[in-house]
Amino acid sequence: MNVLLAGGAGYIGSHTAVELLNSGYNVIIADNYSNSDKKAIDRIEKITDKKVISYTADIIDKIVVSEIFKNNQIDVVIHFAGLKAVGESVKKPLIYYRNNIDTTITLLECMAEYGCKNIVFSSSATVYGEENDIPYVETMKKGTCSNPYGWTKSMMEQILSDASVADSELSVILLRYFNPIGAHESGLIGEDPKGIPNNLMPYISQVAVGRRDHLTIFGNDYPTKDGTCRRDYIHITDLAKGHVKAVEYAAKHKGPEIFNLGTGTPYSVLEIVNAFEKANNIKIKYEFDERRSGDLPEFWANSDKAQRVLDWTATRTLEDMCKDTWNWQKNNPNGYE
Ligand code: NAD
Ligand code: UFG
Repeated sequence: MNVLLAGGAGYIGSHTAVELLNSGYNVIIADNYSNSDKKAIDRIEKITDKKVISYTADIIDKIVVSEIFKNNQIDVVIHFAGLKAVGESVKKPLIYYRNNIDTTITLLECMAEYGCKNIVFSSSATVYGEENDIPYVETMKKGTCSNPYGWTKSMMEQILSDASVADSELSVILLRYFNPIGAHESGLIGEDPKGIPNNLMPYISQVAVGRRDHLTIFGNDYPTKDGTCRRDYIHITDLAKGHVKAVEYAAKHKGPEIFNLGTGTPYSVLEIVNAFEKANNIKIKYEFDERRSGDLPEFWANSDKAQRVLDWTATRTLEDMCKDTWNWQKNNPNGYE
């Protein structure tokens, strides 16, 4: 079976490519490398000893994407191609709406033209918004997002669901990720943010490797036991394996379906810092500062549905996440550069 990974050279896409190739799927990656590096493709091939077909392509561009569908029999699309920096989305909302929504529409149009009936979409826990109780369950109504990035995810879920109403043959799998961290155990692929990291774990690992002086912890006055925010961190390999299960399921399913991919166990920012220090025997310098606007005190997943329907569950521990992050960062101090 041939799987097109739109945005597949990025952090989640590259790890998913490895798991799909190891499970016997053919992988086609199309990426404009706006937030990734072509070296990721070589590394995927090195880990798996398998070939990837890759295209430098802007997924917004229908002519370019049509060519990919014309030249390859695509059975399933996984749509990772999105801009994802929450703060940047507040400053540049139109760029976020244009990129994230147009890529989705182009993919759906090309799928309709070439008879591809299966799409798996990278959504986010952020669509639960501010109103829902924790843990989040798929049956909850979506909430109010605190930034344009979140709204693009919420809107794309709606667009994909509407498309599956119009075409009853279409299978739409919406994967709501919680907080992916870690790296492939080989240390060959991992998270390589451009510029200053927005997310916690890449910031910690860049402090550890000496690229940043100290971590700033945003807020220590939240109503949690140590005052810092709690999140559901999930090992990137567990998340990638969830995509393999979703692809299998999409091929035998019709209509829209939502799955949370998380562990169900939240950790605070301080617990993450302590776990990284302990797992890798490295001290992480940190300072407390004001809360970051838009952050919720805590949320985590109920992933029972993914376990029941997809036969998927996260198995890797926080220690694995911390060790694998450091293995990638110390072997690649400047990422793919
Ligand atoms: P990433 O930035 O590493 O990967 C996204 C990839 O898409 C990059 O390789 C980028 O170059 C590519 N891309 C962006 N716009 C494109 C376009 N118009 N045409 C072609 N390629 C394009 O991010 P990631 O962490 O791997 O995230 C993948 C998806 O998962 C994104 O949609 C993101 O919003 C979503 N997501 C990520 C997280 C997270 O914490 N990492 C959480 C929830 C959801
Ligand atoms: N944090 C710090 N210092 C930093 C970075 C983060 O203290 O330098 C804190 C944040 O305030 C938050 C926690 O670490 O309390 C986690 O922050 P991240 O930015 O790593 O993750 P978020 O939970 O804010 O966001 C992630 C994804 C979003 C997604 C959201 C919900 O980055 O794409 O989860 O799924 F929308």
